[in-house]
Amino acid sequence: MADLSGISSNDETLPKLKARPKINANQFIINEVHDMDGDGQFNLKDVAIQLKENQHNEWTPLEGDGDFRSNECIELLKRSDIVVTNPPFSLFRVYVKQLIDYDKKFVIIGNMNAITYKEIFPLIKANRLWLGATGNGSDMVFAVPNGSEIAESDRQKAARLGYVGDFTRLGNSCWFTNLDHGRRHQPLPLMTMSDNLKFSKHKEIKGKKEYFKYDNYDAIEIPFTDSIPSDFDGAMGVPISFLDKYSPEQFVIVGMCENEDLYNLKTKVYATAECKQAYLNKFGKKGTYDLNASGVVFRNGLFEKVYQRVLIKHKKALK
Ligand SMILES: C[S@@+](CC[C@H](N)C(=O)[O-])C[C@H]1O[C@@H](n2cnc3c(N)ncnc32)[C@H](O)[C@@H]1O
Repeated sequence: MADLSGISSNDETLPKLKARPKINANQFIINEVHDMDGDGQFNLKDVAIQLKENQHNEWTPLEGDGDFRSNECIELLKRSDIVVTNPPFSLFRVYVKQLIDYDKKFVIIGNMNAITYKEIFPLIKANRLWLGATGNGSDMVFAVPNGSEIAESDRQKAARLGYVGDFTRLGNSCWFTNLDHGRRHQPLPLMTMSDNLKFSKHKEIKGKKEYFKYDNYDAIEIPFTDSIPSDFDGAMGVPISFLDKYSPEQFVIVGMCENEDLYNLKTKVYATAECKQAYLNKFGKKGTYDLNASGVVFRNGLFEKVYQRVLIKHKKALK
């Protein structure tokens, strides 16, 4: 990590709050770390002890409110090599843009749905951003300060994952990073299309004659990542959770099924009258079925939208 020590004051003690304006944000500079409590692990508890004792580390209030867009935070960012944080989900797009603009390496937490943001997806497609090695799509557990109010259901879920006490959990979140890791270079083991149709554990695939083809993309619908056929050379629409298993040596990402057709992949755009008719046919009442927002399959005599899909191809198919 960069040496950040030069940018703090030399205050060795915390100023008394009464004597100065309200402090909204602090800057901690960890110059020295070790297993302070001797429990055999080095973790944030040790950092907390060390900071309290002010041993060679620095704890200084910031001038402003710590907004990551403020000049003093940008100065801190410029001096850092790797950013590890849990940014506000509502500002995720802006935050990632800032990290990319300043050419930083990072490991940050975000919501899985951020994958489909039109500011984020192009970075994933271009292999400039990917998911981290662990915890993707499953519950993440967070330690919270002693006695924090936590929803009982979250406390219990954290406990079931082995974290009893001051812990909470967050679902549907994952790490986003541009640091390489081994998991993303492991190929996904796959069956051929005919084996999937014979042996798949999913009733939507097993025993069927073929995979559904989209009505509005030149691609087939793959409802489960483990049902991607090993021998299909065309484009395939896969769930966004596929990105947890994505290896850039095995697949290329060609786009996603979305309204704006960012990558010119749609083979058909539905007229309003078609969307209204599809709604009437499916739900038996008046309405508009936004067929242009996703992949559409013709199933049981109806045009039906599928869940959010990323379009991929086998890399070997491009050779
Ligand atoms: C998802 S929470 C993470 C909190 C904490 N880091 C954790 O992991 O438990 C996001 C944090 O970002 C803070 N935040 C919101 N807007 C911010 C901004 N513009 N600049 C800096 N921090 C902000 C929120 O107050 C909140 O504490």
